[in-house]
Amino acid sequence: MAMTKTEPGFLWGAATAPHQVEGNNVNSDWWARELRIPGGELSGDACDSYHRYAEDMRLLAKAGLNAYRFGLEWARIEPSPGRFSNAELAHYRRMIDTAIDFGLTPIVTLHHFTNPRWFVEEGGWTGVTAVARFEAYVRKAATILDGVDWICTLNEPNMLALMVGLSRAARRGEPTAVTPTVEGQDGFPVLPDPDPEIGRLLIGVHHAAREILKKETSAAVGWTVACQALTATPGNEDRLLEVRHVREDLYLEAARGDDFIGVQAYSSQQVDANGVVPHPPSPTNTLTGNAYRPDALGIAVRHAAKVTGVPVLVTENGIAIADDSRRVDYTSKALRGLFAAMDDGVDVRGYLHWSALDNFEWGHWKPTFGLIAVDRETFARTPKPSLFWLGHVARHGHP
Ligand code: BGC
Repeated sequence: MAMTKTEPGFLWGAATAPHQVEGNNVNSDWWARELRIPGGELSGDACDSYHRYAEDMRLLAKAGLNAYRFGLEWARIEPSPGRFSNAELAHYRRMIDTAIDFGLTPIVTLHHFTNPRWFVEEGGWTGVTAVARFEAYVRKAATILDGVDWICTLNEPNMLALMVGLSRAARRGEPTAVTPTVEGQDGFPVLPDPDPEIGRLLIGVHHAAREILKKETSAAVGWTVACQALTATPGNEDRLLEVRHVREDLYLEAARGDDFIGVQAYSSQQVDANGVVPHPPSPTNTLTGNAYRPDALGIAVRHAAKVTGVPVLVTENGIAIADDSRRVDYTSKALRGLFAAMDDGVDVRGYLHWSALDNFEWGHWKPTFGLIAVDRETFARTPKPSLFWLGHVARHGHP
């Protein structure tokens, strides 16, 4: 297949999220939540990227990448309601400056699953103060975003709506599971649908944040959606439309007035008359139990572009796998699908691999997504061959 050569300015990078790499995010709701995950592990010091971010960025830049997606941690910036920390704002400003100094375009996420503990105690996303609280945080965050060209408001609002729904169920005493992670050969459990009522609330939050950011910054503003590359089994095309709408399209449609859509794709699942078909156990499953489906990226990108009508930025794509050569294999196939979509006219502005580091996978350390391994005792970073491979792709504009 012919390969697209990307334009100069195409973003080639990797992504992380604050709670998964920083360490000691003690004021966030997830810090306490981790203790309740059955069989789960704790984030603890994580990768200590709170202190070692410059080293992370240096490794990415040295390999040849030109972009880095990272997040601001609301729980640090606003440690108690209405009290903002200038020191933490300065910390994140230093991260932005460091990225720019290394020649990495910063893509900044304002919310990646974690909330300040006090926000959840106050009622969380379904509480009466939610929108005003998030707006106040966004306004503060905007003061340090000068020179940032890309801002993601909420990460995976469809997954967030699912998690908020599960927390609500837990409060009612119903059994819950948080982002279930299973060992390799097991099938991937079918996640429940996100609650559309919470989804609509988050859409309002995103639009409010967008308005502030468009006024206060010069960045392109969007949000990032978990795109599941759902396909229909024969005869179930209408069912696919219903299932996809509640899981994904509601959130993609909300991006129609945005500057871009962040596409996050890992695997693909089928939909039959009963809904999403459970993915069966297989020796080729990834360490999160997903099917090995590098073609998911192409499917997801085409669908997101069609629904939103705005440019695409791939904000996450990757694989939890121990064997790094399979990461290269997966990613080269995923990029082939991405380039085929671009050849067919889809406007794609960049590709950000998940993840820069082997990080805390929401309750588990075993699923390794990183281009860089991290020693959990010493925090020493060891770039994997996949980092050099992706850097080579970035430098040449094609695999
Ligand atoms: C999330 C990440 C997560 C990744 C791999 C995405 O849903 O944004 O935080 O680590 O997928 O599971």
